[in-house]
Amino acid sequence: MVNLVTTFKYVLISLLYLCVHNMVHVMAQWPKGGSTRFYDFKVQMLKVNKLCNTRDIVTINQIYPGPVVYAQEDDRVVVKLTNETPYNATIHWHGVRQILSCWSDGPSYITQCPVQPGQSFTYNFTLVKQKGTLFWHAHFSWLRATVYGALIIYPKTGVPYPFKHPYEEHIVILGEYWQQDLVQLERTVMASGKGAPIADAYTINGHPGPKYNCSANDVYKIDVLPGKTYMLRLIGALLNMESFFSIANHKLTIVEADGEYTKPFTTDRVMLGPGQTLNVLVTADQKIGRYSMAMGPYMSAQNLAFQNITAIAYFHYLGATQNSVALPASLLPRFNDNLAVKTVMDGLRSLEIGNVPKEIDTNLFFTIGLNVNKCGSKTPKQNCQGLNGGVMAASMNNNSFIRPNIPILQAYYDHINGHFTEDFPGSPLKFYDFVNGAPNSAPNNTGSTYGTRTKVLKYGSQVQLILQDTGTVTTENHPIHLHGYSFYVVGYGSGNYNPQTASFNLVDPPYMNTIGVPVGGWAAIRFVADNPGVWLMHCHLETHMAWGLSVALIVKNGQGPMETLPRPPSDMPRC
Ligand code: C2O
Repeated sequence: MVNLVTTFKYVLISLLYLCVHNMVHVMAQWPKGGSTRFYDFKVQMLKVNKLCNTRDIVTINQIYPGPVVYAQEDDRVVVKLTNETPYNATIHWHGVRQILSCWSDGPSYITQCPVQPGQSFTYNFTLVKQKGTLFWHAHFSWLRATVYGALIIYPKTGVPYPFKHPYEEHIVILGEYWQQDLVQLERTVMASGKGAPIADAYTINGHPGPKYNCSANDVYKIDVLPGKTYMLRLIGALLNMESFFSIANHKLTIVEADGEYTKPFTTDRVMLGPGQTLNVLVTADQKIGRYSMAMGPYMSAQNLAFQNITAIAYFHYLGATQNSVALPASLLPRFNDNLAVKTVMDGLRSLEIGNVPKEIDTNLFFTIGLNVNKCGSKTPKQNCQGLNGGVMAASMNNNSFIRPNIPILQAYYDHINGHFTEDFPGSPLKFYDFVNGAPNSAPNNTGSTYGTRTKVLKYGSQVQLILQDTGTVTTENHPIHLHGYSFYVVGYGSGNYNPQTASFNLVDPPYMNTIGVPVGGWAAIRFVADNPGVWLMHCHLETHMAWGLSVALIVKNGQGPMETLPRPPSDMPRC
């Protein structure tokens, strides 16, 4: 198997420049100085041997985890995706703000039709004022379980990191692995009405590590020199779980979250939900030895099964013997340690004073949570295996999002009627005790409505959005991701949101693209809707998204070409 190349020293960057093509492009609007990085992404099957079994997984270029996309702030990135598998595919550039390039965002049936077998599509976007660790992943069915990779954006030439330059940098991607066909798995789960089976393994850069069967040598390892400081670019690419990460006997200092610098915050462990990235500094300041880097479950919902075997990688000091026993990863919190999650969240502050919107003109309030809907099937034994013989669902403002048959962006742009509605409510139709109650005739009716509902925002709206977890079925920490934007997380708390008692940080809140809304609690985010297009907002736990925990925000055009979404690229795939 091809191994992920993760060591990347600064010296090499200059070499990289020589290797990538440069292209003069006439786009007077963009900050100049950016190069264009060309990548060829072939969606291809790869035979892998994992957990005592051989199977074919979907990959990019037969690399797993996928190829790293390297760029620099303000660069243009051009990726030609060619699909050589029997599955449909798209790629989403998670965390890329896609200024005026919504067509390249990637979520299937939201901004584009999937790229069908044998077809291709070229993604083209600019990393306007963006740097740091982001990632890319498939956005069709559940393919992203194996189709993901890092997107590393270096600062502009000559601009240092705002901390002592690490000796080396390594990419550490947390994932989940299934022995099944992921497209089939989604179909089976959706047809059953119940939840997804647990993953067969957690993985660190694709490796489960020694605690899993047949995996003694399927282990990721970082070689370190005593006394040196390393930067780990942690990426949460899990499918259906959130996870803790720690290194035995070593402290982690967070310096960046979701591709934005933070004030340094030192901790023993971090939590990453799918969609979240963190840069942490680790100093090899312990006795020579081989230490475990461990990844394990964070499960805040009640009564749900999950994989409980820790994935282990090695933090290996030069001079430690191969067979020196790995120290136990004693620092992983218990699976339901909500306090451990809160402690890190409390420590996240933007490095600099943020540009937080102060004059809010659009106040939104979305509930997020699970539902059980009535069985409507003639074969309930097959299709209604959810709680109480019902069908599991998930919703925002109690609406379960239905994926349309043609992309919403296309329907919106070409004025094709009948594929979506614009009636997504800006706040819940009914206020009740969200954390302890049920939306309809409490306490028993836990149902949601279904529809392809969108929320339309005027260009330039100054938005505050309260995300409120519900306990209709079970409370849970939901990693909510917004496409096309980062947002300031100005507040969060437990219980029902109460404007009288909520306290906000309008000075240096973290600027993120995915927020883990606290279990049984709420989070308040702010952003200016200044990027026209159709932007999906959803829970990044894949089952929840399949169940409908999403909404599409339509941001209208403003004035003139810099506030108007350009025409679609000519090679836009057809459905
Ligand atoms: Cu990383 Cu719509 O997702």
